[in-house]
Amino acid sequence: MRILLVDDNRTTLRYMTKLVRTLDAVALAYDSPDSVLSDISRLDFDIGIIDFQMPFCSGVELLSQLTKLEKYRDKPFVIVTADLDPSTRMEALNAGAIDFLTKPINPLEFQARMRNLSALVDARNKLADKTEWLRNEVDKALKEMREREEEIINRLTIAASYKDHDTAQHTRRVSEYSEAIAEAYGLDPERCRDIRLASPMHDIGKVGIPDIILLKTGKLTEQEFATMQRHALIGRDILAESSSSLLQLAAEIAGSHHERWDGMGYPLRLSGTAIPLAGRIVALADNFDALTTTRPYKVAWDVETTIEHINERAGTQFDPDIVAAFNKALPRILAVREAHGPQENRARAMSA
Ligand code: C2E
Ligand code: SIN
Ligand code: SIN
Ligand code: FE
Repeated sequence: MRILLVDDNRTTLRYMTKLVRTLDAVALAYDSPDSVLSDISRLDFDIGIIDFQMPFCSGVELLSQLTKLEKYRDKPFVIVTADLDPSTRMEALNAGAIDFLTKPINPLEFQARMRNLSALVDARNKLADKTEWLRNEVDKALKEMREREEEIINRLTIAASYKDHDTAQHTRRVSEYSEAIAEAYGLDPERCRDIRLASPMHDIGKVGIPDIILLKTGKLTEQEFATMQRHALIGRDILAESSSSLLQLAAEIAGSHHERWDGMGYPLRLSGTAIPLAGRIVALADNFDALTTTRPYKVAWDVETTIEHINERAGTQFDPDIVAAFNKALPRILAVREAHGPQENRARAMSA
């Protein structure tokens, strides 16, 4: 226990210092308010004992200065006074004192008071430690939960990739494009991260589509395309009603990534901001990747044409604000594409 002692009377100060030492506590003795104030930023004590009557600055004024600082606000302070005037006491209590000692100092009373205050400080510290410990435990549990959620998501994504032509690379690109767009749109980092983690499952509903349609190399018939469109609701249903907020977000994305800003999309023909924001973001990221890679039914478009195509569809197919965010995020999107780009583009370039 460290006890701050402030008294201009050196005899009293020495006496209190001695009493503090009998309690196995450390005394920080100051003989003037000025010397305390000049050390005010670096005082390290658990209890403060301050004389009321001192020249230039009363104990109550010193106390007010100390308790202005956050780190001393909750320390127990005791004012030492011969003056029993109730208004003085009121003043001291208002300044943050919790107790009084009367002069001349009675050693037994002083020691008993210090013991009580030490017990109070100990109890407070234990409570603070326990709170800190609990907070750490909760953080740890939350982190584990997030990791498990992420693992489930990764495994679901892997399961879906067995059925689809999509490679792990495609999934990774859409996920990173989505995060880049979300960030450029101005979403907070946690939301951006959630979108990155939830977006890889946008097409998970394709597991419910017959291979003959899914893997068809030619153009789909109207009937086949209608069947194909079911992947949005199938995906939403696979992921929905989870208690995991990440899976809920993934369900929202799966269900809405084929809606169009103008209401001409599917499955629900939602329009504008009725389409969940994450769905609007992933719709654009998915389109950019689908267009710039080869599909069983189409060859890859070049990046310039694709950017132009997307910008032409701002306000019809896409949310214009998301297109603006996409344009802003292009350097990062192109860097992701460079690092995890479609292999077939390189293969074609080599064979040409
Ligand atoms: P996907 O291949 O992942 O394509 C995702 C979305 O990118 C498409 O959603 C569409 O909005 C856009 N997209 C892809 N390629 C093109 C294109 O050449 N031109 C234009 N304008 N947009 C393109 P969509 O159309 O709802 O298709 C959903 C899924 O249905 C596609 O996912 C794909 O798996 C399948 N699909 C769509 N059309 C055909 C097709 O003609 N043949 C085959 N085999 N599958 C198709
Ligand atoms: C959402 O997060 O889906 C709502 C925000 C918006 O519509 O812009
Ligand atoms: C794809 O995304 O369709 C394949 C591209 C790749 O090999 O990464
Ligand atoms: Fe899709």
